[in-house]
Amino acid sequence: MTTSDLNSLGVLSKYKEFIKPNDLPLISMGEGNTPLIKAPQLTNLIEGNVYLKLEGCNPTGSFKDRGMVVAISGALKENKKHIICASTGNTSASASAYGARYGLQSIVIVPESNIAKGKLSQALAYGARIFAIRGNFDDALDLVKETRDQLNVEIVNSINPLRIEGQKTAAFEIIEDLGDSPDMLFIPVGNAGNITSYWKGFNEYYNFSKSTKKPNMMGFQAEGSSPIVNNKIVESPETIATAIRIGNPASWDGALNARNESEGMVDSVSDQEIIDAYLFLARKEGVFCEPASAASVAGLIKLSKKDFNFVGKDIVCVITGNGLKDPEIPLKYSGIDIEVINPSIGELKNKMDKK
Ligand code: F0G
Repeated sequence: MTTSDLNSLGVLSKYKEFIKPNDLPLISMGEGNTPLIKAPQLTNLIEGNVYLKLEGCNPTGSFKDRGMVVAISGALKENKKHIICASTGNTSASASAYGARYGLQSIVIVPESNIAKGKLSQALAYGARIFAIRGNFDDALDLVKETRDQLNVEIVNSINPLRIEGQKTAAFEIIEDLGDSPDMLFIPVGNAGNITSYWKGFNEYYNFSKSTKKPNMMGFQAEGSSPIVNNKIVESPETIATAIRIGNPASWDGALNARNESEGMVDSVSDQEIIDAYLFLARKEGVFCEPASAASVAGLIKLSKKDFNFVGKDIVCVITGNGLKDPEIPLKYSGIDIEVINPSIGELKNKMDKK
């Protein structure tokens, strides 16, 4: 079998010997194997070698698919008929897609407001049972935890260790593409499952890949939703980056462990810094991501202004989700007025001359 055959089989097949337990059904929708692209303009700006890991290229448009395929495989092995998750949107989109494909009914619990349209549309299209609660993500996750002893459903949030097993494969791919670990990994932090997973991945692949180093893990929360930074649960989290609008992360300890062991940091970025980075990525690098994803790059730009020395360093920013997930953001923040004209070359020329 060639490498490209293996890639198309997804993370469970490709990384069989690294995913525990290793007797899970090898299902796939072609998740993983996402591009790691150079970011020339960011590289110029901060004088390090900056790469973007484009996780929006996964089947449902976010990194969640890597862990979801493993969690769904576990549910199939256990003969479960229902899966359930709390979500700010992407987990529910991913769960509903894999549930649909593998004959499991998905039940998704989302906050009544603050879920991006693209994500909700996905859950609707894939046929999930959707419950919108009067509360935020943290309330939704508390409700899901209560189902554990009361309903015969498989929880597919990242409190399910199989999710972490799948998500760690992104670190494997980065090492393969760079030929070594990067010096630093910048990553958005919400429920903190992903930073936990990457750190696990870099550690588990270290010897096998003959890496010479491990990255400093640089996690970024949104300022209005930054419990880890402030070491305090946030009762009413707020941010434009709805994916990471979380006040009490389930993998809080995992994030602290990643930060401490890697000598990295968990810091926050403001909504304005997120939008600036979001527009920079779209307009300078041609990468359209959702606001939460831009938090990684916002963090990098923030540190570069504080005289951090990135010269000669290999830096990876994880771009966690596709921009189409949250289509209302550019409508609000692009600063572009759509001009309506007649189909007339004269009028078009006239308008263009004015700019
Ligand atoms: N980026 C995006 C696009 C996300 O959807 C999430 C989390 C994160 C970053 C943060 O990752 O939670 O592992 O720290 N979304 C979850 C969801 C909470 O329900 O879709 P994390």
